[in-house]
Amino acid sequence: MMAHSVLVTRRLAPGVLDRLTSSCEVIAHDNDLPMPRGDLLAAACGRTAVLTTLDDAVDAEFLDAAGPGLRIVANHAVGAHNINLTACAARDVIVTNTPGVLTSATADLTMALLLAAARRLGEGERWLRSGRKWAWAPNFLLGVELSGTPLGILGMGRIGKAIARRARGFDMPVSYHNRRPIPDQLDARWLPLDELLSSAHILVVSCPLTDQTRGLLDASRLTLLPTGAILVSITAGVVDEVALAEALDREALFAAAIDNHTNEPEVAPGLLRQERVVLSPHLGSATVRTRQAMGNLAIDNILAVLAGKDPLTEIKPK
Ligand code: GLV
Repeated sequence: MMAHSVLVTRRLAPGVLDRLTSSCEVIAHDNDLPMPRGDLLAAACGRTAVLTTLDDAVDAEFLDAAGPGLRIVANHAVGAHNINLTACAARDVIVTNTPGVLTSATADLTMALLLAAARRLGEGERWLRSGRKWAWAPNFLLGVELSGTPLGILGMGRIGKAIARRARGFDMPVSYHNRRPIPDQLDARWLPLDELLSSAHILVVSCPLTDQTRGLLDASRLTLLPTGAILVSITAGVVDEVALAEALDREALFAAAIDNHTNEPEVAPGLLRQERVVLSPHLGSATVRTRQAMGNLAIDNILAVLAGKDPLTEIKPK
């Protein structure tokens, strides 16, 4: 397999790259920042496989730059909105993602955000670090408790289901919206989107970013949320962040938490100035175990395809 040449566009978790370097020629961008576009296109030239991240746009220009020898694009993410799947399929380039291995870590982080927003942990921490005077008081930094608070989940895939399981442990009644009801969700009610929004006191946005979900929670849909609701988003591009900041300004919402940002690494300025918003830098899958599992799965996909076998987790255009 030594004849194969693989581009890896980002520094991987400890120990992961070795499995590839022992069997292929590897060009690795050993850096925690994305490859500049020009460097990416130049480095893609002549590769049989590319391991990409969500920051690398894999479009017709990229595929032209890579050339006809490219067999697989292994995305180091469960999402694939950086990849033009139709353009890849048209050139017989296989695309894979890393589902399953990041479900628990991402659902855990979602619960952390939900608790942080509901119990005002960011505000409290900033208060103490600023040295501002404080004292325990019956009305100091009062939040919302999870027990008994209706949770709405927009997007009941693997991660949505894992969030629902965790939420049951907090005694939250769970509803969800998905393209269609899922038969095995006995404890969670399927609702049409608008009904979910108007009944969710805490809404978690965990659907993938697709042409159908891009901008779905715009200004008018956000007004459906009950007054005092909390919105937590772990998907970029679904929530209109400007409209969200305006809803918080009007005190229509109690709080929000955002992990994936629409124009990463930019954070919506309207959200940065909000005390009631918890902001995290795309940390859903950020544990050593999960990042190693994601890297290993991406490499397993590459090694399988280069050995003439089926990929493990292929994604195709809808
Ligand atoms: C998001 O972080 C993903 O893995 O798609």
